[in-house]
Amino acid sequence: MKSISSRKAFLCRRFTSAVEEELGKRFALQTNRDDSILSASEIAEKAKGSEVLFVTATEVINADVLRSLQPALTTIATLSVGYDHIDMAAARSCGIKVLHTPDVLSDACAEIAMLLVLNACRRGYEADRMVRSGAWQGWAPTQLLGRGLVGRRLCIFGMGRIGRAIATRARGFGLEIHYHNRTRLSPDLEQGAIYHESLDDLLAASDIFLIAAPGRPELKGMLDGERIARMPAGGVVVNISRGDLIDDNALIEALQSGQLFAAGLDVFASEPNIDPRYRTLDNVFLTPHIGSATDDTRDAMGWLLIRGIEAIDDGRVPTNLLS
Ligand code: DGY
Repeated sequence: MKSISSRKAFLCRRFTSAVEEELGKRFALQTNRDDSILSASEIAEKAKGSEVLFVTATEVINADVLRSLQPALTTIATLSVGYDHIDMAAARSCGIKVLHTPDVLSDACAEIAMLLVLNACRRGYEADRMVRSGAWQGWAPTQLLGRGLVGRRLCIFGMGRIGRAIATRARGFGLEIHYHNRTRLSPDLEQGAIYHESLDDLLAASDIFLIAAPGRPELKGMLDGERIARMPAGGVVVNISRGDLIDDNALIEALQSGQLFAAGLDVFASEPNIDPRYRTLDNVFLTPHIGSATDDTRDAMGWLLIRGIEAIDDGRVPTNLLS
């Protein structure tokens, strides 16, 4: 039997030091030291002969990469809950197992969702800029008037683990929770949230429309001009899922015209090359895809992958196995 440390693994991005240290003990680990985002063909070349490939949402793992890493590659471990960057059908057909990191990041992502809701509704970007720039002339009765949260409807598209963690926090702010999912939740998970059978119904109730559904090809461009028009005038859009769920042209137009009050965005199409018009809008609060970015969470995500590989080695089925 192969000794554990002779198993080759390739780490596409830098993980936390505790996780990297552990991986170094368990594998003959090669690391993309400069933490650059590798293209599919670079991964195919650099990870040749690896049994395990550690990736994140920045790496595109398509059928060509998977085929080129055959027959050595048995497992892909992605430091993300989302797996839209991996061709799952190709992984299945190559017999490659895919592990991801659900649950451990739900609280951190819910915190960022609330940060976006608060900053979009209460004009966080403009407020910060006013103070930093020296433009602030002192308190004024009509200065930076925003939207209070109490009694408003927070409409969550995608009431999975992250959506429910957001709802828990949002209730504390006095928001009324509405949601749409492919299937309705049981009452104990709903916790009084109001279910809408269709996305269009949910949009019509959306004082704040918050996207927490996992990225999937069929959802691409889901929030387009027609759907934005279904929202009440002066609504707010928040996205912590994947940027390509939003039609940027439609959102930017609605923000420019005042049809929407504001948006809070943590994710963007074609990251990090976001639509430059977002940078010019005062009524958008922007964060650079930091939903799960806390040290504890990133450690926990790494450990979940390590435990998943351990389970596979022991012949058990890991809870975080996708295929
Ligand atoms: C996730 O876990 O999917 C986050 O978006 C980071 O990639």
